[in-house]
Amino acid sequence: MKKPWSGRFTGRTDPGAERFTASLGFDRRLAPYDIEGSGAWARALSRAGLLTEAERDAILKGLEMVRGEIEGETFPFRPELEDIHMNIERRLIELIGPVGGKLHTGRSRNDQIALDERLYLKDVVERVSRGLRTTQSALVERAATTLEAPMPGYTHLQRAQPIVLAHYLLAYVFMFQRDRERFQACHARADVLPLGSGALAGTGFPIDREALARDLGFAAPSPNSLDAVSDRDYILEFLAAAAITGMHLSRLAADLTLWATAEFGFVEFADAFATGSSIMPQKKNPDVAELIRGKSGRLYGNLVAVLTTMKGLPLAYNSDMQEDKEPFFDSADTLEAILTVLPPMLGSLTFKTERMRQAAGEHFATATDLADYLVRKGLPFRQAHEVVGRVVRHALDAGKTLEALSLEELRRFSDLFAADVRAAIAVDASLRARAVTGGTAPDAVGRALALARSFLSAP
Ligand code: ARG
Repeated sequence: MKKPWSGRFTGRTDPGAERFTASLGFDRRLAPYDIEGSGAWARALSRAGLLTEAERDAILKGLEMVRGEIEGETFPFRPELEDIHMNIERRLIELIGPVGGKLHTGRSRNDQIALDERLYLKDVVERVSRGLRTTQSALVERAATTLEAPMPGYTHLQRAQPIVLAHYLLAYVFMFQRDRERFQACHARADVLPLGSGALAGTGFPIDREALARDLGFAAPSPNSLDAVSDRDYILEFLAAAAITGMHLSRLAADLTLWATAEFGFVEFADAFATGSSIMPQKKNPDVAELIRGKSGRLYGNLVAVLTTMKGLPLAYNSDMQEDKEPFFDSADTLEAILTVLPPMLGSLTFKTERMRQAAGEHFATATDLADYLVRKGLPFRQAHEVVGRVVRHALDAGKTLEALSLEELRRFSDLFAADVRAAIAVDASLRARAVTGGTAPDAVGRALALARSFLSAP
């Protein structure tokens, strides 16, 4: 197959080199964006007097034929034509004749690929944002019914203080909200038109790039052609946002996996989101959650791969940059897959709220409240901490819980203890005491829930 650039060559491409340099295997997904960009370019060329209206219309019609072939799966993808750009252009010429050869006037694959990627990115960001919102919505729904469901909160994975389940669930709603904001910011910075930058120095024809930007739905044309064709920070920002989101997702999935153990017994996965063992008949494994946890690995790896590829590259375009696409697409696909399976999985969880409530009060979970009780009676906190530490030591030695200690026993450690101490160390009292903004008191969580709900109506 004759290459579009064959003029200055006399020798043929080595077949191995041809396979090695081809990106068609993965950049074909950019076809719709390439066609969209080419249509706008044809209109820009005609506005600049470089195509007659008839030529422009022939090209636009040809591009629609190409689109039809791709959608109908009859398009002849030819890896020997390297990438999606040259495949589409060659097919256009085959379909409409030599006039198709006018499309690439003043354009380079360098501004073309940057355009396709930015168009693709803007679409993916919208899908990912929607997926995050659906995930938030599933969490908000569960939070709305668990405002009064106590559970142990942990630090160092040791029982720390009681919280309500809704407080835990909403923590992730706020994390995912910041993830959405990161993707929106990435979208806003990617919303700049690179087309018209040519290979590196700007196109040599009088293209109205402002009009072209409007035609393709970009906020503005890029102000520097070298920057426009050589940077891939828009992809890196996407990958960074995806990696951070993946980190959040992995922590949520990890907790659910832990909570589903017999040791915790806080949650049960629905059969629909669990799998069995090929050997152990009793097993019910939380595979979906485990894989969500595991996929953070590739989301991090993709970011590091593209950062490393871009490091030290001289301006402007280099073929190294063709390596940006697989990690980019992989992170997009991975996130979309997670965000499709996670919301229904969250909706199908059975929280064992009785077991959680019981665990919330165990193992000195309200010891801080006992110290706070002494503080309210006038003891400096540091001394109160020391006194309660000794109370806990005594209870451990006596094999008793805090609640089981008699008032006399407590008064051996401080005469500030009085009959009202019982009520102060109940789980409910501990929760209600934390009524500050952002605290776990059911009222405070209710206010956070209202804020979280407001996220669900934003795009
Ligand atoms: N397939 C190329 C890429 O992915 C498109 C740009 C190629 N430009 C070039 N001069 N080889 O980056």
